[in-house]
Amino acid sequence: MKNGFPHFMMKEIHEQPEVLKKTILPRLTKGLPDLSDENIPDELLKRITNIRVIACGTAMHAGMVARALIEPRLRIPVTVSIASEFRYEEPLIDDSTLTIVISQSGETIDTLAALRLARECGSTVISVVNVKGSTIARESDYVIYTHGGPEIAVASTKAYTVQIAALYLLFCRMALVRGVYTEEHAEQFMSDLLNCASAMETMIRDENTINEIVTHIVNYPDVFFIGRGMDYAFSLEGALKLKEISYIHAEAYAAGELKHGTIALITDHVPVIAIATQKHIFAKTISNIREVKARGAYVVLLVTEDTAVDEGIADVIIRIPKEDDKFTVFPIAVVLQLIAYYASVQKGLDVDQPRNLAKSVTVE
Ligand code: F6R
Repeated sequence: MKNGFPHFMMKEIHEQPEVLKKTILPRLTKGLPDLSDENIPDELLKRITNIRVIACGTAMHAGMVARALIEPRLRIPVTVSIASEFRYEEPLIDDSTLTIVISQSGETIDTLAALRLARECGSTVISVVNVKGSTIARESDYVIYTHGGPEIAVASTKAYTVQIAALYLLFCRMALVRGVYTEEHAEQFMSDLLNCASAMETMIRDENTINEIVTHIVNYPDVFFIGRGMDYAFSLEGALKLKEISYIHAEAYAAGELKHGTIALITDHVPVIAIATQKHIFAKTISNIREVKARGAYVVLLVTEDTAVDEGIADVIIRIPKEDDKFTVFPIAVVLQLIAYYASVQKGLDVDQPRNLAKSVTVE
């Protein structure tokens, strides 16, 4: 069942390049995104004026990546809500709102209740779901299934990257039908998305290097993840993954927010995983990294391979393949998953079945 891998989580990390292709390829027609099998009307994608993304945990982090992609390009407001909060905040949504619900299992009770509420308010729901025929899939107006296959490890890995791939595809279809992208542009976007499979493979091949880097951070009680924009969304997922399987206290911070309090916790050798893949805010992130370095942090910097960085800014640099910065999430996700995985292994913990957690959360 584990195909020779020591844990399901490692097997599932390795499956990511393949399931990304499985999710995207059947939805390409002449290289363009096609959601006609899902019956999603272009008219819907054209007319909506705002988007509400609802999910829990890792799925919610996938939604945050999608928000960072969609809002600045389509120029429509996108709000990401934690399902258990959305239910009680008397949300302002109506038939001009597209609700995107994201769930691997399709059974998370808070996400399901939020979906029902969104539909009661008149919003159309498109769900991004992995488990075929699950309750969330059945109750949605439209479903985009991720073809991730069964995910056994409690910590979500491949489900996250295929959710993002499906959301990217939906974005591209919207950009096309709303006239934001030309066909040529959309084709290029989809081809870049497919190429992320090989960027993930490259990082998977780097697993031994990442295992070695983890030896420098695994014995500290706290680890901070910092980034800006999309890099901040990745940081949230990196911190969650590390917490849930290594039991190391991890926090993600928007890098520019550190100096408003949290930097007080940065002292000698405190590990900081700094993600700086977003070009338009790169200089700003680097200046935040200097601030933590100056306070003695042990900095692990994640950048693309073409990025020039000053000597001394980080203790270790992990370089991901050169990508357009819309797509760095895929190789970065692999790195963050491997950091959490090796931290758990090095601590001798149960990687696949961490304490207190269930794969599907069907209680409120
Ligand atoms: C973390 C993890 C959880 C789930 C969350 C939502 O690794 O797996 O945070 O992402 O419980 O689950 P689904 O996607 O099944 O609704």
